[in-house]
Amino acid sequence: MAIVTSTEMFKKAYDGGYAIGAFNVNNMEIIQGITEAAMEERAPLILQVSKGARSYAKHVYLMNLIKAAVEDAEQSAGFDLPICVHLDHGDSYELCKSCIDGGFTSVMIDKSGESFEENVRITKEVVDYAHAHGVVVEAELGTLAGVEDEVNVSAEDSSYTRPEDVQEFVERTGCDSLAIAIGTSHGAYKFTAAQCTRNEKGELVPPPLRFDILEEVSKRLPGFPIVLHGSSSVPQEFVKKINSFGGKMPDAVGIPESQLRDAAKMSVCKINIDSDLRLAMTASIREHFAEHPDHFDPRQYLKPARIAIKDMVKHKLVNVLGCNGKA
Ligand code: G3H
Ligand code: 13P
Ligand code: ZN
Repeated sequence: MAIVTSTEMFKKAYDGGYAIGAFNVNNMEIIQGITEAAMEERAPLILQVSKGARSYAKHVYLMNLIKAAVEDAEQSAGFDLPICVHLDHGDSYELCKSCIDGGFTSVMIDKSGESFEENVRITKEVVDYAHAHGVVVEAELGTLAGVEDEVNVSAEDSSYTRPEDVQEFVERTGCDSLAIAIGTSHGAYKFTAAQCTRNEKGELVPPPLRFDILEEVSKRLPGFPIVLHGSSSVPQEFVKKINSFGGKMPDAVGIPESQLRDAAKMSVCKINIDSDLRLAMTASIREHFAEHPDHFDPRQYLKPARIAIKDMVKHKLVNVLGCNGKA
């Protein structure tokens, strides 16, 4: 019952001025940390699986771990936690089909790197198969800078979404949501130091998101759910913790949370956050080993890592997405 599509979630989010958090999952601790946070905050959730996650952990493990999380929510909290299971950055019809056949309720077909016509053609093929199986489809127009799955997209290739394209794209493909490029990008190094200014604390401040493009897209697609990828904020206290315990992440910088919160109040209904969870997990494990160099039982460091993920997700649900209490 609780594994659902994003249709109802997005409708309520659009009308309510908030967004649903889409968090990438790769293993049991990550799934547990995220779902425990959503349970405690009573938040609807999108758990997304990349091609890389699927080859790391296998589809069947991730699907069954997610089913276990739903069952656990029912049993331990008596709560029907709505979870949409989504393929992140599907790069082919075959991959999308395999995820649909394997029980996902949503897929992304990302042909944003192709020509407009090719993007329309393949997206439409995926939409036809998905809709025939009760599954929804996210597509993308415009190219984000940074790393998309295993494909390197250099900063020079970054191109904002052209608002004049969106209506035709949505009409011709029949997609259910659209990821757009307004200045976010993947990973922990979203901008070079040269692209940023520095605040009074000496921290890097990135150029602001292109809210003018988001507004123009929303005008052309009234009521239609918009998605933002690359929306980690790379909290500096986590970067500092990683660096102080032997890591090396100089100049890592993300998108200010206040800007994402503003986007969530507009037509943005889905915000993708992955790198911040990785930072939380890594910072916690580095800290653990710095304090307990004699430990070698994975439970000793994965337990605090799971709590760090849970705390990070709770923070996002309340302060960035505004979807707490909406499930
Ligand atoms: O956008 C990509 C996500 O952060 C997933 O990354 O390909 O390393 O699983 P991944
Ligand atoms: P971040 O790397 O900013 O967390 O973005 C994740 C993402 O967009 C997954 O598709
Ligand atoms: Zn992405």
